[in-house]
Amino acid sequence: MNNNIIVAIDGYSSCGKSTLAKALAKKLHYIYVDSGAMYRAVTLYFLRNNIDLTNHAQIEEALKNIHLNFHSRDYETHITLNDEEVSEEVRQMPVSEKVSAVAALKEVRREMVKQQQRMGKSKNIVMDGRDIGTAVFPHAPLKIFMTADPKIRAERRYNEIHAKNPEVTLEDIFENIAHRDYQDTTREESPLVRADDAIILDNTNITPEQQLQFALDKIEALKG
Ligand code: CDP
Repeated sequence: MNNNIIVAIDGYSSCGKSTLAKALAKKLHYIYVDSGAMYRAVTLYFLRNNIDLTNHAQIEEALKNIHLNFHSRDYETHITLNDEEVSEEVRQMPVSEKVSAVAALKEVRREMVKQQQRMGKSKNIVMDGRDIGTAVFPHAPLKIFMTADPKIRAERRYNEIHAKNPEVTLEDIFENIAHRDYQDTTREESPLVRADDAIILDNTNITPEQQLQFALDKIEALKG
């Protein structure tokens, strides 16, 4: 029997899921898996290869040619797409603008969820995303559903990417976040929704240290 621990963190765009997930993984020596990076890497491949999102045969074929891998040198996300390091490129606006449409495709979700479930088979992991507590690991012992004020979320993401992308405005980011939230919560295939047993964490007014402590306390409580 497997008794590895899975921490599932879901929530809206840019609300600090990966900050919490990385900090937790580091503290507990768990593996961190950024499921969003997988959808982003698929999107990058689709953009580069002009995949038509209405052509299901083409999508299936493209998925066969996509090989994703995580390299965990530290607790940052290092993802490769067919052996090319794409961690930086997948965070850029062209991918952010298309990712929610790609992530809504049934074929894409089926393949990503299968790979994610494989990663959680035997190791202690923290995975963040949109459907981790509902579809990927519905039996995860700890599920956290994160949220924060949309304006604060846009400011945080702006501060994160502004230095490297001075042309991107706060308004662009705000709109992108709002649009993705809309697409992610209204899609047919496993939309973003809080699992019944997920604990809500609103981090609008709390620090990264406080949210880490919140999650650590929950894990401690699990161990009883
Ligand atoms: O970091 P950020 O909150 O901007 O987003 P992300 O976690 O990198 O995810 C990018 C997009 O991938 C989301 O807006 C969703 O459309 C999709 N996604 C998903 O559908 N399911 C997941 N488990 C993770 C991400």
